[in-house]
Amino acid sequence: SGPVTPSDIGPATTDKYAFAFDIDGVLIKGGEVIPEAIEAMRVLNGENEFGIKVPYIFVTNGGGKTEEERCIQLSNQLQMDVSPGQFICGHTPMREMAEKYETVLVVGGEGEKCREVAKGYGFKDVITPGDIIKDNEATTPFRKLTEQERQLSHGRNYGEINIEAVFVFADSRDWAGDSQIILDLCMSKNGRLGTRSETFDEGPPVYFSHNDVVWATSHTYSRIGMGALRASLEAMYRAITGKELKTVAFGKPQVGTFQFATRLLQQWRKDTHGIDRPPETVYFVGDTPESDIRGTNEFDQSGQSEANWYSILVRTGVFQEGTRPRYMPKMTVDNVLEAVKHGMKREF
Ligand code: G3P
Ligand code: MG
Repeated sequence: SGPVTPSDIGPATTDKYAFAFDIDGVLIKGGEVIPEAIEAMRVLNGENEFGIKVPYIFVTNGGGKTEEERCIQLSNQLQMDVSPGQFICGHTPMREMAEKYETVLVVGGEGEKCREVAKGYGFKDVITPGDIIKDNEATTPFRKLTEQERQLSHGRNYGEINIEAVFVFADSRDWAGDSQIILDLCMSKNGRLGTRSETFDEGPPVYFSHNDVVWATSHTYSRIGMGALRASLEAMYRAITGKELKTVAFGKPQVGTFQFATRLLQQWRKDTHGIDRPPETVYFVGDTPESDIRGTNEFDQSGQSEANWYSILVRTGVFQEGTRPRYMPKMTVDNVLEAVKHGMKREF
């Protein structure tokens, strides 16, 4: 058999740098994989001229299903294994809020998916807009539950329950109905439906899993997203009450999300590659200047990161050629494969 050579044990993993990828507009668009993404992952997995592997994680603002489920889908799309240990979505950091709130309204996503996610995070009493409509159909004059929704919804007397916080986990499938219910809670006394505050400052806090006003889909132009719902809710609240509604957004570009990503990457490098020190550089590849580039640059400048965070903007998503990005990346390239090649070349 002879001596063991490097080609027998496969390419070595670099401990010097790592990549972090946004998903929508970088790897996936309208549910379909962006072709260069598959090749980009192969390159990082060792199919490159340098004969090395590069560790990487995924940081998306999207959500609406469990991390496990999303990773299975991503594995199929990218034709390789993606583990929840290298994946953060918009609502992942909300998991930590389960220690603070017990009874919560969870908004957005398909069917019962977000209830499942919230339960998995440890929230004890998870209420959905459907539950509230089942209890009082007059809540949303133009939204009737389907028979299946009625069966799955938890009917209770919500006039006897204090909802402590509202979490928008994923994009609303019914803006009018969901907005009505969130506004009702914001105007209530202590999150009790059927009550109205006289001062309009007693409602529960509202958390959004991100603040992307638009995002990249299969349409030629970006589509409105959760940040647009947030802006609309704040505008409606002002129009109705004359007061400001203060809401909180997680996700990129928040520094907290990049700190969360740093911890995930550290754990991932340790568990799967045996590397027990921070990388010198993390290349973040994104398509949205306001979230990906802003967040990466601000984290890099914050003095809170041991690694340098290097922003790369791609032209396959929200950012369109011919406009000047509001937040300037270190590098702009055509697609994710070019981004990977740029980072790797820069390291040699
Ligand atoms: O709704 C998801 C979208 O706003 C952004 O997803 O992967 O580009 O962060 P991503
Ligand atoms: Mg994106």
